[in-house]
Amino acid sequence: MGDFSQFITKTPSTIPDKGTFSCTSPSNIALVKYWGKRPIQLPENPSISFTLDVCKTETTLHFEKLNHPTDDFQFELFFEGKPKPDFKPKIQSFFERIETYVPFLKHFKFIIETKNTFPHSSGIASSASGMSALAYCLMHLEKGINGSMTDEEFVNKASFLSRLGSGSASRSVEGPITVWGNHNEVPGSSDAYAIKFPYSIHENFTNYQDTILLVDKGEKQVSSSVGHDLMHGHPFAAKRFEQANSNVSKLKNILISGDLDMFIEVVESEALTLHAMMMTSLPYFILMKPNTLSVIHKIWEYRKDTGSKICFTLDAGANVHVLYPHSEKDTVMEFIKSELVVYCQKGQYICDKIGLGAKLL
Ligand code: DP6
Repeated sequence: MGDFSQFITKTPSTIPDKGTFSCTSPSNIALVKYWGKRPIQLPENPSISFTLDVCKTETTLHFEKLNHPTDDFQFELFFEGKPKPDFKPKIQSFFERIETYVPFLKHFKFIIETKNTFPHSSGIASSASGMSALAYCLMHLEKGINGSMTDEEFVNKASFLSRLGSGSASRSVEGPITVWGNHNEVPGSSDAYAIKFPYSIHENFTNYQDTILLVDKGEKQVSSSVGHDLMHGHPFAAKRFEQANSNVSKLKNILISGDLDMFIEVVESEALTLHAMMMTSLPYFILMKPNTLSVIHKIWEYRKDTGSKICFTLDAGANVHVLYPHSEKDTVMEFIKSELVVYCQKGQYICDKIGLGAKLL
């Protein structure tokens, strides 16, 4: 399971009375996918993602010291200004998982206020941005208590805590590109937390665009926990984890060399493999919708006709992330508006791009 003792903070002798931290943290889109985990929240294979910029969660953490630490966590939760009891169990189990590493949690009463920049029912996972925003706020509280922390220790632990909330959240703390999961060709990489891609990234990827087509805004058919579980005993699991490792090697070289044709191949193959895993598990799922496929075919046609470097990736759902270089922004947007928006529910899409990670406000 690994030794994570470096992240254990001793219960401090001085604890601030009260205060507030507000942070934002973005969503991210995996290029090499994390699909399959073992306890607790450790990935079966390394993954790489673009950190996003526009789709993010803003969280304010109010804390007030209790006279006596309590037996249970004391917190209230507000989403878009309203109490949100349905989110409480997720935060409760997050607190339980991180308590060893943040032992001062029971010394406070917390009020957590949170909101997203993207519509809640957009099918965009808010766990990555939500969990990392909360972890980032807690790290600022910890930094106030344990001031000796270096910047590197701070971001590593913020990612470590985020991971315990949601695996992909570990990749949202920093940007523009992060790697989560141990890989022998990525120095510093770890299953315990994500790191910034440790090489200089080719300028082809500067300001890379991600237009998210909201093909289906319905509730998720398969929660990610159920989804990850499907990889236990999956007939193709071992091969898939091997392939992900090799795709991380390929993508590492691509991000350094700027080879966009190879980028397209790895990224689209990863998206389709993720869905292939779901189609070939028991129970099996098809999470794409007819419109997802129509969009994919349109993208392929456009690429063939124009030589554009546009490509797509998918999450565990029907929405399509359309990825393309900044230099093609105007032309691809024209194509999206004229050819792809018809496949979006209520014509909705979100223009996002590669971003830099969590921030203190
Ligand atoms: C398909 O991070 O949502 O988006 O660790 O159970 O919270 P939990 O899972 P989660 O899984 C994300 C899966 C994915 C691929 C990816 O982001 O790498």
